[in-house]
Amino acid sequence: MRIIRARDYDEMSRRAAGLIAAAVVTKPDAVLGLATGDSPIGAYGYLCDWYRDGHIDFSQASALNLDEYCGIEPDAVQSYSYFMRRYLFSKINISSDNQHIPDGLARDPGRECVRYDAIIAARGGIDVQLLGIGLNGHIGFNEPGPEFVKDTHVVALSESTIDANSRFFDDRRDVPVKAYTMGICTIMRARRIVLIASGERKADIIKRAFFDAVTPGVPASILQLHADVTLVGDEAALSLI
Ligand code: F6R
Repeated sequence: MRIIRARDYDEMSRRAAGLIAAAVVTKPDAVLGLATGDSPIGAYGYLCDWYRDGHIDFSQASALNLDEYCGIEPDAVQSYSYFMRRYLFSKINISSDNQHIPDGLARDPGRECVRYDAIIAARGGIDVQLLGIGLNGHIGFNEPGPEFVKDTHVVALSESTIDANSRFFDDRRDVPVKAYTMGICTIMRARRIVLIASGERKADIIKRAFFDAVTPGVPASILQLHADVTLVGDEAALSLI
């Protein structure tokens, strides 16, 4: 594992964006695995700036998002589909045919999971997977549990994740209780993984995920077994390692 220690959120964002940009520059049809949440907003900002300034061309790249709430309209402001359009897709030249997010309104969730995994396989797998990390160690929406779940699946969100995500909803009761997520194997099959973390509240889980036992109780701990992981964190998030 490589660790990039950034001064603050902005430097973390620039370094992470640099790794994604390098993947697209060296392989124009790169397949990018992307995340939502507070952590990647700054990195997406850098990618948009570099596109605007003519440094990166996303016309052949593909994006596959990690997750989406079940039962949410793609235009709902809390949907991950909306998030991606707002922070990245509407500001770069990625083709709409190459933007993939699980369909929150799919009638048959089991079939939607199979469809999503088939897209990833048809694209030849993910070149770079960007990840955030939940306070409970989740990656995507792979929550702590008795085992690592392999492929794209539907999860019941943990109370702590619902609490964390309730900031985006008027009422905690409006937070969807289920979500689609790429599975742990889907993520582990990515050729390269970049995990970003910022802020003191992530410090404890970063230590547990990367320096304690590999256990499905801390889903991100599986990343210790991946051959090409880069942890990009700011000083506060990396303060315990
Ligand atoms: C989002 C995702 C989640 C987040 C995690 C951290 O697509 O997959 O695993 O990365 O919950 O969220 P933030 O960045 O908001 O702290």
